[in-house]
Amino acid sequence: MQAMPGYDAPGLVELLRTSRRAVAFTGAGISTESGIPDFRSPGGVWTRYDPSEYTFDRYVASAQVRANSWAMRREFFAHNAQPNAAHRALAQLEEAGHAAGVITQNIDGLHQLAGSSPVVEVHGTAREVMCIGLAPRDGTPDGCGFTAPYTWGEEQVEAGDPDPHCPVCGGLVKSATVSFGQMLFPGVVQQAVELVSAADLVIAVGSSLQVFPAADLPVQGVKAGAALVIINDEPTPLDGIADLVVRGRAAEVLGPAVAEALES
Ligand code: APR
Repeated sequence: MQAMPGYDAPGLVELLRTSRRAVAFTGAGISTESGIPDFRSPGGVWTRYDPSEYTFDRYVASAQVRANSWAMRREFFAHNAQPNAAHRALAQLEEAGHAAGVITQNIDGLHQLAGSSPVVEVHGTAREVMCIGLAPRDGTPDGCGFTAPYTWGEEQVEAGDPDPHCPVCGGLVKSATVSFGQMLFPGVVQQAVELVSAADLVIAVGSSLQVFPAADLPVQGVKAGAALVIINDEPTPLDGIADLVVRGRAAEVLGPAVAEALES
């Protein structure tokens, strides 16, 4: 499908207007206009940190990697980010009865802050920390169930402990995100598959669509009969199966397009 620029890409407003069970599938690109860097664009997180250093197994094995991870997360939260027009547009689409929810790869919680619900966080959330146990194996957290807001960890680090451990069982503590080499949280994928399989429209926004199994979700939606719109700054591997590809910035496209779709 040939990419079209701008929010008035032929058919976008009509697809939004006629949908009743649209599901957004979002990536880090929807939050860059909120000041949070994405991963693979110039200046993105993985252009500044080596992703192979931040796998689940490396986190478990190395106190230094755990200390570096707290520093990286502190940078991530430094932006005190707020939802932007793209997050708000998806919540408005839902409120008007055109959308059924959001599946996001993002860990920033901005969809919830914008009012979307349900928000299926297939890669977890950085807003919480969790005990992953003393020696979890095979990429599977094996903690005692301790969880706390992210600020708990920050307070421990600021008090001088570079590698906070679980106050209940002494296990390792990690943000409640899914790292490379880590299994997705049980039930989350099932919830995402149910949502996307019942969709009449999948709106993939701000994702390079190259990390699996998450990036397979829009494909599952198409196989179940949904139309697919991709809104992204650059080409993606799924452009070829999309009904419409919009080349542009998420907030600049979704804000006006949803506003026009809800006008009539
Ligand atoms: N509007 C539209 N597209 C944008 C914008 C924007 N404002 N900003 C960035 N983009 C595009 C980029 O061009 C890129 O194609 O969004 C995409 C972001 O891709 P990635 O940085 O790869 O982020 P994402 O697809 O979310 O990564 C998936 O990889 O590292 C893991 O767990 C991490 O969830 C993440 C997963």
